[in-house]
Amino acid sequence: MTIHIYKDVDTQSQAAAGLFAAQILQKPDCVLGFATGSTPLGTYAALIDLYKRGIADFSTVRTFNLDEYVGMSRTHEQSYYRFMVENLFDQVNIPKDNYRLPDGMAKDLNAECAGYERAIDDAGGIDLLLLGIGLNSHIGFNEPEARFSDGTHVVDLTESTIEANKRFFATASEVPRQAISMGIGSIMRARAIALVINGAAKADITKQALQGPVVPDVPGSILRFHPNVTVLLDEAAASKL
Ligand code: GLP
Repeated sequence: MTIHIYKDVDTQSQAAAGLFAAQILQKPDCVLGFATGSTPLGTYAALIDLYKRGIADFSTVRTFNLDEYVGMSRTHEQSYYRFMVENLFDQVNIPKDNYRLPDGMAKDLNAECAGYERAIDDAGGIDLLLLGIGLNSHIGFNEPEARFSDGTHVVDLTESTIEANKRFFATASEVPRQAISMGIGSIMRARAIALVINGAAKADITKQALQGPVVPDVPGSILRFHPNVTVLLDEAAASKL
């Protein structure tokens, strides 16, 4: 695990976008994994800038997102599908057929999970996966549990995640209670991972994940067993290391 600390979120975002642009340069038909949340917004803005300047070309890139809420249509303003379209896909030259998120409206959720995992395999696996981390150390929507999960699966969101995400909804009761998420196994199978963490509120969980014991109760800690993780922190997130 290589840890880099940046003076601010802007510099951190430029560095994270640089990793993705380099991956696309090295392998124009690469498979990227993307995340939602407030953390990756700076990275996406910097990637859009690289696209506009002719540095990053998404025309043959394929992408898989980490997760999607169950029961939420793609057009819902809080769906992760819409988040990705608005914050990245519509602003770069990625063909519509080249990006995929789990379908939270699927009638058979287990079949959707199995199909999603198979699609990642069929694409040759993920070359570079962007990750944020939740306040409880969840990665994707892999919540603290008694054991690490494997493939894409349906997750019951914890009270703390519902609480953290209610800021995006009118009331807490509107926050979905379930999501489809890549599992810890799906994440660990990515060939390379860029973990981006910023802000003082994440300083404790950053320390736990990067320097505490590797336990399923701190899902992000598993990344220490991955052979190719680049961690990008701002000074506030790194302040307790
Ligand atoms: C969300 C997502 C995660 C994300 C995390 C942190 O619920 N499922 O992929 O990393 O929470 O979000 P934020 O970046 O807004 O702190």
